[in-house]
Amino acid sequence: MTVLVTGSRGRGASTLIGLLDAAGIKVTAASKNPADLSPPHGVDTVRCDLTDPTTFDAALTGTDAVFLYAEAAHAGTFADRARAAGVEHIVLLSSSSALAPDAAGNAIATSHLAAEHALSTAADTGAFEATYLRPGAFASNALQWSRALRTGHAPALPYPHAHGDPIHERDIAEAALAVPTDHAAAFRP
Ligand SMILES: NC(=O)c1ccc[n+]([C@@H]2O[C@H](COP(=O)([O-])OP(=O)(O)OC[C@H]3O[C@@H](n4cnc5c(N)ncnc54)[C@H](OP(=O)(O)O)[C@@H]3O)[C@@H](O)[C@H]2O)c1
Repeated sequence: MTVLVTGSRGRGASTLIGLLDAAGIKVTAASKNPADLSPPHGVDTVRCDLTDPTTFDAALTGTDAVFLYAEAAHAGTFADRARAAGVEHIVLLSSSSALAPDAAGNAIATSHLAAEHALSTAADTGAFEATYLRPGAFASNALQWSRALRTGHAPALPYPHAHGDPIHERDIAEAALAVPTDHAAAFRP
């Protein structure tokens, strides 16, 4: 199995690349700017800009599964090209905002829902399996507090006594790893 990981400069994607490589699964690290990547030794890189469909075919060649960032404008084209390339599974990094009661009026939710919908439309025809990861706030968002903390200030929060359960990007990456590998195992004779 070969897994194409898009957005490889991102924290979740780069963690997933390490997990796939450590598991002995062939992975290609895709990014808008592959020159900026420092993947593990032996991991190939390829340019895949999710806002530029002309980059999709070369990146998808020989790919069985994809970890995809939610770029709504071209998600339908990406799904079409993935189907043409014989991709069997796409794992989309969506957002818990898609589950919110006010999702239809929330810009973050609607962009993730549009990407989910584009994949669902293709998946419903049997093109490939699609799985949507819907994490809430990333734990690394707290790094934004570092400047204030270093200078002895409290982080500026709109609701300082509110409770949240942020998720670490490694947990998201481990969920993303489990989906295509469990899927492949289920079909193994
Ligand atoms: N931050 C949160 O709390 C949170 C919570 C839930 C969902 N999400 C979703 O997770 C995704 C990434 O979150 P992040 O920016 O916080 O962290 P990140 O993992 O650091 O993502 C940044 C990198 O991911 C790629 N990327 C991200 N979004 C993309 C898009 N829409 N189209 C094309 N490439 C994209 C780019 O990689 P390359 O330049 O290498 O191609 C970019 O450098 C977003 O879709 C966001 O809505 C975030």
